[in-house]
Amino acid sequence: MLLLGIETSCDDTATAVVRDGRTALSNVSTNQDAFHAKFGGIVPEIASRQHLALLSAAVQDALERANVTLADLDGIAVTAGPGLVGSLVVGVASAKAIAYAARKPLYAVNHLHGHIFAPFIDSGIEPTYPFLALLVSGGHSQLVAVHGPTDLRIVAKTRDDAAGEAFDKTARLLGLPFPGGPEIDRLARAGDPKAIAFPRYRATGDALDMSFSGIKTAVKYFLDTDAGRATSHADIAASFQAAVVDVLVDRLDRASRRAPYTAAVLSGGVAANSALQTAFRAWAEQRGIACAIPHMRFCTDNAAMIAAAADRQGEIVRCDPRTLAANPALPFSTFT
Ligand code: KG4
Ligand code: ZN
Repeated sequence: MLLLGIETSCDDTATAVVRDGRTALSNVSTNQDAFHAKFGGIVPEIASRQHLALLSAAVQDALERANVTLADLDGIAVTAGPGLVGSLVVGVASAKAIAYAARKPLYAVNHLHGHIFAPFIDSGIEPTYPFLALLVSGGHSQLVAVHGPTDLRIVAKTRDDAAGEAFDKTARLLGLPFPGGPEIDRLARAGDPKAIAFPRYRATGDALDMSFSGIKTAVKYFLDTDAGRATSHADIAASFQAAVVDVLVDRLDRASRRAPYTAAVLSGGVAANSALQTAFRAWAEQRGIACAIPHMRFCTDNAAMIAAAADRQGEIVRCDPRTLAANPALPFSTFT
């Protein structure tokens, strides 16, 4: 199948043309960071207005770069949720209009399912089921048991902040610009990850849940101490990052021992983190489990992953272009 993907759930206006859920013929993403940076976070109203201004050209661009026309497509795949409602509405309305006018099937994709299938784009890697996905983004941190393209079960999640949110908030405490994840990643390279022992959350009993707000708060209090004022921000960034990575890999390891998974994948914006990638690969090697990480361009929000998920999920996510509605709280599984 040749699908046009549209993704506007947050602040990236993204479009792509993907063949058979595996090959991105184009992948266009117009980053809005410059419009949000001075506010220190994403302003929903600005995001939706920017999507409106950028999306038509982004669709055209994706088609041209892929050297295809609307007539060549087998369908349109769009993120239906979860996300910012004003942002989702722009993508969903555009996808409905294109599908209706071009008489093409429309597929409504869960944004998180998109992230989970991102490692299989342009990688030559095929999913083997069941696999375990560590999904870490600005809005979510979850471990998901993927038993099939339409059988995805959450086995653990964060009790408070998402990992990416903790990166962004901690970056702000350190005076770094938004989005903070890549900034901390860069700064941490010059720091000592063992300089400060920030807390590593562990739920009581068998629960695999994660928590990241305590690490962020510990950084805040540490910065107010004499020791904190005397410690380099590079050491603080590296120590914070090490604490987040430790929690993620610990929960991944525990989850992986509870079922016979064939492989593990890392996905979502935080999957771009260099320390997490290194720890994830080392863990997989030590456990003797196959692993996959998306290309950098498919870690953060993109439309290729939306087309890739739609291709694998097929008829079950097909919907009527006259009635599809954006759903900011779309449940993780939309198939029950
Ligand atoms: O998946 P994504 O693009 O959007 C959501 O669906 O949330 O993830 C964005 C998040 C942001 O919190 C950003 O700071 C984080 O991913 N991020 C990183 C890195 N690159 C992006 N976090 C840590 N290290 C990175 N290199
Ligand atoms: Zn995302």
